[in-house]
Amino acid sequence: MAKNPASLGPKFPQVVVLVGATGDLSRRKLLPGLFHLVSAGFIPGCRIVGVSLDDIDADGFRQIAREALDQFSSRKAANGAWAAFSECLDYVPMKAGPAALKAAVERAEAALGAETRRIHYLSVPPSAALPAVHLLAEAELVGRCRIVMEKPFGTDLASAVDLNGRLHQVFSEEQIFRIDHFLGKEAAQNILAFRFGNGLFEPIWNRNFIDHVQIDVPETLALGKRAPFYEATGAYRDMVVTHLFQILGFMAMEPPTALEPGPINEEKNKVFRSMLPIDPRDVVRGQYVGFRSEAGVDPESDTETFIALKCHIDNWRWAGVPFFLRTGKRMAEGQRIISIAFREPPKSMFPVGSGVGAQGPDHLTFDLADASRLSLSFYGKRPGPGMRLDKLSMQFAMHDTGLIGEVLEAYERLILDAMRGDRTLFTSAEGIERLWQVSTPLLENPPPVRLYEPGSWGPKTIHQLIAPHAWRLPFERAWRDPNGAGS
Ligand code: BG6
Repeated sequence: MAKNPASLGPKFPQVVVLVGATGDLSRRKLLPGLFHLVSAGFIPGCRIVGVSLDDIDADGFRQIAREALDQFSSRKAANGAWAAFSECLDYVPMKAGPAALKAAVERAEAALGAETRRIHYLSVPPSAALPAVHLLAEAELVGRCRIVMEKPFGTDLASAVDLNGRLHQVFSEEQIFRIDHFLGKEAAQNILAFRFGNGLFEPIWNRNFIDHVQIDVPETLALGKRAPFYEATGAYRDMVVTHLFQILGFMAMEPPTALEPGPINEEKNKVFRSMLPIDPRDVVRGQYVGFRSEAGVDPESDTETFIALKCHIDNWRWAGVPFFLRTGKRMAEGQRIISIAFREPPKSMFPVGSGVGAQGPDHLTFDLADASRLSLSFYGKRPGPGMRLDKLSMQFAMHDTGLIGEVLEAYERLILDAMRGDRTLFTSAEGIERLWQVSTPLLENPPPVRLYEPGSWGPKTIHQLIAPHAWRLPFERAWRDPNGAGS
């Protein structure tokens, strides 16, 4: 545990208005995350006012929160800590209206003192975002506040511009924190440390040395209760235009002049400005067999639950280097990797049959899991007579640091940053609008969805998309087990 958590948290007590408080994200991540931040002492004083369509009272909400912690929290909720946290929870059903919400927030503020700040967390689908903003405005809760918005920010360029315009009628840009939880992952921030904290890698981080890049996020989970949300969203809007492109931004950007929101966003936005529009011919859309019979899904649904695509960043550093992105539900494995393939040596002096190049190019691989890992693979000599080469690797696992317990989950980290007013890891309106702009050809002219079997790696055409290269996943060699004897 961090030595003095309070010194890392916000200066002022916080009232969190959690809109969508009984929804999937809230139960899986936000309530467990807030529980940890409060019980570990990161927030000096905190009250949470839940708001949702469910017609329940504060006790009903406490029960939902308790069940959420039991089911989803990675840390066990000790009884004392739970009792203290449950005292912080209150609830207002949406239909009670702005006056009831205002009264609940004022009660919370009265308990915390005059210097309280508000944080409104909108954990709602895009269609419910503006009504929630208006509710907050009518409840006169715009002062002393920051608002955290969940993706997708709009559904295309026009709706994103419209959403930003309407948001600005109520909140100033400085108050708006657009969250992309992939940027809150420890491993995503480690990309910046790895690239810019060392002299070794940056000189080879360009088209002269890098052959291609893969950002691959297959998931095994099915959609379950989220099917209706997903039916209107799809894998491209849910994952690519948000998380995968943001990770691409960190991977591809130029060194920022400082580790601050302005310079970092500027460099990410330059990457997005250099991106070529997505060509629908470079996209494979897939749908798992069985999606159409899930509750809330159109039996003739054309929504993709899988997407793989090739994109290009047309600047001096990356011209000619393809970036392959893939993500989908109900796939064979759950992984989150960035894999960088280096160019092969120009000439080989090794005898025929030595095995050089036989196992693909050298790779640098980032595993974006909470317990993150990194691997650099290369050819080395197999011990013994003659000259046979094998693929070897150097690996680092977060476990090696002994500090795995210090890791904040992505949402915890970002909630804390928003409370502190630090927007370094948040996305900007300009960046998002540009990403919608490059997406326009695909959104206007999507290729038909192709079915894939649950438990597979997607439709067969993914291999054509990446040829003459190959997808890194499934891995030929598994990660070394950090707790094992090593191999
Ligand atoms: C969410 C998406 O933003 O990210 C989900 O809406 C997805 O569909 C999830 O499953 C993946 O996040 P993580 O942190 O589990 O990799």
